[in-house]
This record gives sequence, C-alpha cells and structure tokens, in this order.
Amino acid sequence: MKPQHTSGESIDEADLLRRARAARSRAYAPYSGFHVGAVVLTDDGRVFEGANVENASYPLTACAEANAVRSMAMTGRVSPIVAVAVVGDGEDAITPCGACRQIIFEFGPTATVYGSGDGGRPIVTSIKDLLPHAFGPRRLSQGHGPDGGWAGGPDEL
Ligand code: THU
Repeated sequence: MKPQHTSGESIDEADLLRRARAARSRAYAPYSGFHVGAVVLTDDGRVFEGANVENASYPLTACAEANAVRSMAMTGRVSPIVAVAVVGDGEDAITPCGACRQIIFEFGPTATVYGSGDGGRPIVTSIKDLLPHAFGPRRLSQGHGPDGGWAGGPDEL
C-alpha cells in the first residue's frame, strides 16, 4: 500500500521529490559545494521547503531538512509530518543525516522518507527505520519533562 495522509489521500512521491529538487536550487553551500533541498508534508496537506544554508563558521550550517521542519513549526500550527523528501547533488540518493533524523522524528515519528539524487531510483524508507529506538517527546511526557514536549503527534511509541 502507498503511504497515506491520515485522511487516506495517498502521497505524491514524485511531486514531493520535484519540490525538494526545486528547493535545492536555493541552497547556500559555498563551502561544501553540496546542495540539498527538502520538503516536509504535514497531515493537513501543507508542504514546507528547506535548503541547506552554510556558514563561514562551518558547524553553524543548517541542513535542508532542519530548515523545512522549522519552517513548519514557525507557522505556529504544528501538524504531524507524514512525509519528507530530500534531494542532494550527484547521482546517488541521499538520506537525512543523523541530526536531521532526530529533528524529523519530533514531529513525524511515523513519516515516510524519500531520498534522491539526480540519477537512479529514490530510496523509500521511514523515520522509524532510519532512527530505531528513538528518543522523543513521549518519553519526556512520562513525568520527567518540563512540559511534556509536543503532545500532538501520533501515539505510536
Ligand atoms: N546536508 C543537508 O542539508 N542535509 C543532510 O541530510 C546531509 C547534509 C548539507 C549540510 C552541508 O551544507 C552539506 O550538505 C554537506 O554536508
């Protein structure tokens, strides 16, 4: 079965990858020369874009996926992320880096993840497979966190 919104509408993988590739063209990557674009799709059908934005102080670089997730959070309407698409330079497909997996997990513990380059077939996987035994908001809501984290996500942990 194809990945779906909770509404039952199926996810348009090709459209998400196309949008991620378009977002990649806005990457600021003068140091690595590696351009990445990403989109996140929320349960309520909204799509947010991001690209990597590097910095002369290299560790301050922001990844494409992190920027896309934060742009969703910044709307003030946090919704579960149902899918993420990421496209990097070169032939081979990419998948989100470790830090981005954690950032995606916060709002998308059941998200499908599509990774691509400019050739071959995209990788289709899930955040669950990319980040097994993840630490997330529900763990903090078990009585030890300040405010329980984000309680709006799917209850799957
Ligand atoms: N990058 C991303 O934007 N997302 C990833 O998941 C992997 C890496 C960026 C960070 C940096 O600007 C460049 O790719 C090379 O690491």
